[in-house]
Order: sequence, then C-alpha cells, then structure tokens
Amino acid sequence: MGPEPPLAVLLELTHRCPLRCPYCSNPLELERRGQELDTAAWRDLLDQAAALGVLQVHFSGGEPTARPDLEDLVAHAAGRGLYTNLITAGVLLDEARVGRLAAAGLDHVQLSFQGADPAESDRIGGYQGGHRRKIAAAGWIRAAGLPLTVNAPMHRQNIAHLEAIIDLAIELGAERLEVAHVQYYGWGLKNRAALIPTRAQLERATEVVEAARTRLKGVLVLDYVVPDYYAHRPKACMGGWGRQFLNITPSGKVMPCHAAETIPGLEFERITERSLAEIWTNSAAFQRFRGTDWMPEPCASCDRREIDWGGCRCQALAILGDAAQTDPACGKSPHHAALVALAEAESDRDPPAFQYRRMTRSEPVEA
Ligand code: SF4
Ligand code: FES
Repeated sequence: MGPEPPLAVLLELTHRCPLRCPYCSNPLELERRGQELDTAAWRDLLDQAAALGVLQVHFSGGEPTARPDLEDLVAHAAGRGLYTNLITAGVLLDEARVGRLAAAGLDHVQLSFQGADPAESDRIGGYQGGHRRKIAAAGWIRAAGLPLTVNAPMHRQNIAHLEAIIDLAIELGAERLEVAHVQYYGWGLKNRAALIPTRAQLERATEVVEAARTRLKGVLVLDYVVPDYYAHRPKACMGGWGRQFLNITPSGKVMPCHAAETIPGLEFERITERSLAEIWTNSAAFQRFRGTDWMPEPCASCDRREIDWGGCRCQALAILGDAAQTDPACGKSPHHAALVALAEAESDRDPPAFQYRRMTRSEPVEA
C-alpha cells in the first residue's frame, strides 16, 4: 500500500530576498533567478498537488512577493480548492498588491518580524527600513480582511524583547503569534554561536509565553517552539519524513523538508522530470526515512517511534554526521548529553558577528 497523500506543500518560489537573515531556512547554496520554474510549471505543479490530495499550499521563498506572478499562482491554487498561505517578510508589498492577493483568493498571511525595536530588527534582518515597511504591510493585510499570523523567529539576540514582540503582535491585529526558536540547519547552523540562547534565557521566555497565554486567551493564540538542543524529546520534524509535507525548491526539486539536500547520498528529483505523485510514492529519497523500518535503536523499540518518527534527519546529520541515527535532541540518544553541553558552552560565550545570508558563498558580510 502506498503512503497517505501529503497534507501540505511549501513552494519556495524563489530564493531571492532583500533581507539577509542569519538564520534563513534556505540552503547555503541558493538557487538563482535563471533556475526558477516559470509560471506554467508552477501552475502545473499546483494542479498535480490538488490531484494528489494536498489540502494546503504555502507560498514561500526567499521572498515570494519578488515573483510578479504570485497573484496568478494564488488564484490558480484557490481555483483548485487549495487553502493558500503566504509566508512573507512583507517589505516588497504595497497596498494595491495586498488587495490583488486578497482578490485572488489568498486565505492567510504569515508575516515575519525580526524583533520589536526598529533599529535592532533591521540589524538582525540585514535590511535598513525593513521593520517600518513590515508595520505598514501588516496594516494593509488587516485592512484587506486577511487573517494575520506574526512570525517571530527567536534567538539570543531578540529573546529579551519577547514581551514587546507580543505587544506588537496585538497592536498589529494579529490573530496568532508564532514564537519559534531558530533551527540550526544551513544558515542557522553557520550562525549557531550567535543565535543559541542560554538555558536561563529560554526559561525566562517560557515563563513570558505562559503568562501571555493566560492573559491573552481569546485575543491572541501563541505558538511556541523551544530550541531542540534544550528539549527532552525531539519534534516530529515535518510530521515525519515523507508523511505530510512536500518542499519544492525554486528549480522544482521535490524534497521532504527544506534541509534535505544536506544529506549525502540522497537524490531529489525535479517536477520537470517525474510526476509529483510518482516522486511522493516511489522515489528512493522519500522512501529512505519514511515510516519506522529504517530506525536504529533506541528508536526501533521506543513507544514514541510513531509519535516523533525519530526526530529530525537533518539534525542527526548536522550534529552526528549520520542522518540515519536517532536525533540527538532526544534524551534517549547516547549523544544527547554532548548536545546539551555544546549548547550550554556556546551560549555562555559572547556571540560572534552574524554571517548574513547571501547569494554566493564567498567572504561573509559581518555586522
Ligand atoms: Fe523518538 Fe527515537 Fe527518542 Fe523514542 S528514542 S523518543 S522514537 S527519537
Ligand atoms: Fe530535514 Fe528535519 S529539517 S528532517
């Protein structure tokens, strides 16, 4: 029997972005404009996704509004009955464009903020004037009647401002605030020492979130994700490898998660080479870590193996050099204590300068 259909597909429409966040989830090797799928290819992919049983489509990047055909693609997805979500930094939006996106059938907007203080937020995102533009974008989004989630990636350089970020989300009329600690793959891994909070900072943030959840019941929903390195059990990354999610790169590579290309030995096929249904069901890369057959101990005999699916393959690779091991974020992993020690030691030192995201891998820009 084949796998269940995926729940959601995330389209990295482009890797281009005016911001340069040092924790960007895009790969270190960014795809260029000339490699991006054209409008017809993205439309075809949306048709295939709907036929496969996908329910939600997330338009992401890079910065998806850098693509002038975004409205067209949103309308196409909505016409196929897909729930449409835009994940944006917001700095390229204007009022007319937000209106066009709403008219095209957009269901929801997730707008990222780097912090609550304008100068500090612009420093973190590596883009002058970005915070001010985001505030304006939030106003247009709400005025267009679109539900708004504020997405505030959290790390040691903005965690002290969490209360102000919560206040900002309320002022902006957001329905939901996502406070997710930065994940350490790709750019985040490269900048881990500049981003990882101390345990004391994390405990304080958890208290702030819990108090806000009580205080703001019925006003603002708060999603909270702690850094894996301090967790006791890992997250079910992507809901399990090849179980719920598809990630499509700008050039049409189909992957189970955004960081999967870091895993050596896996080949990811392009939507221009094989159908989405065939890739989802039969490709070797999707089958490699699907289900529980691949699991080593302690996962193989663990009663949580169908809850967290052994955690994150990309994290096992990043920390242990082997994607087929138990995620070291799990307390049952023999490597967990070393991971916690690493987090504590790294967060105890002064943060180094950011290595900002950039299109080429040549000399990093520091600040
Ligand atoms: Fe999850 Fe494996 Fe840890 Fe069990 S041993 S909790 S399945 S990561
Ligand atoms: Fe790739 Fe978790 S990010 S499996």
